[in-house]
Amino acid sequence: MPPARHSIAVASGKGGVGKSTVALNLALAFRDRGARVGLLDADFYGPDIPLMVNLKRDSMLERWDFWRGGEVRLDPVEQYGLKLMSVGFLLGERQSLPFNAMSLVMALRQFTDGTDWGDLDFLVIDLPPGTADLQEQVTQVLQLSGAVIVVGPQDAAHLDAKRVVELFQLRRVPVLGGVENMSGLVCPHCGETIDVFPRVADDRSLWTLGVRLLATLPIDPAIVGNGRGPLLVSAPESEQAERFRALASEVAAALN
Ligand SMILES: Nc1ncnc2c1ncn2[C@@H]1O[C@H](COP(=O)(O)OP(=O)(O)O)[C@@H](O)[C@H]1O
Ligand SMILES: [Mg+2]
Repeated sequence: MPPARHSIAVASGKGGVGKSTVALNLALAFRDRGARVGLLDADFYGPDIPLMVNLKRDSMLERWDFWRGGEVRLDPVEQYGLKLMSVGFLLGERQSLPFNAMSLVMALRQFTDGTDWGDLDFLVIDLPPGTADLQEQVTQVLQLSGAVIVVGPQDAAHLDAKRVVELFQLRRVPVLGGVENMSGLVCPHCGETIDVFPRVADDRSLWTLGVRLLATLPIDPAIVGNGRGPLLVSAPESEQAERFRALASEVAAALN
């Protein structure tokens, strides 16, 4: 049984384009619509969600001995009204993960079937960068309702995003649309938008595949959070927060 009515993967192919930022704020925007929401951090090698929600847990690793065959059930961690699961809650901050591809799959199963999520309307899954093993596994372990693709305004980001779209299409996961993040910088002095990166040629962009643009988000220091929590918590009245809520409406509409 899938833990949620709708499981939505946030993917990009490329790293550093804002997957975790979008996944977390999208989850919070669903929460604001009154939904019960979980966020699964599937980035096992770079689990950033605990940092982004101002939480860390040390030494839970001993409970997590599934590779020895023990049946372990985990409870998600709650913060800001979300249910969260991340390997970052189980590792110390300086611990790395001695995992190979096989154990990643087991970890993914532990975080889905082996976790007591309760009844959820939405489970948002923050995928790691890449267009290979784990992305593929997620489509097999979870019955995804759809995927949201995040790109930066760079050629390489669009290139990798197109690969991830292909992967979802092969697995018959509906691609709900895309988000262009870091799309220009609004000058705090004059208010004009500066294109920090050269524009991606239309025929090379993700949008040529027919992926619908659901939201654009500019570069904005407020989005980083800086220890004050995610944008929807630190600045819920801001213009950028409104963009995340509009994104959640678009995603909800695309699901129906
Ligand atoms: N629109 C934005 N404006 C400013 N900083 C951003 C924006 N989106 C993401 N960031 C920052 O960029 C970095 C990478 O974002 P992150 O969400 O971790 O990307 P990914 O999960 O794709 O690796 C983080 O430090 C994040 O706070
Ligand atoms: Mg990330």
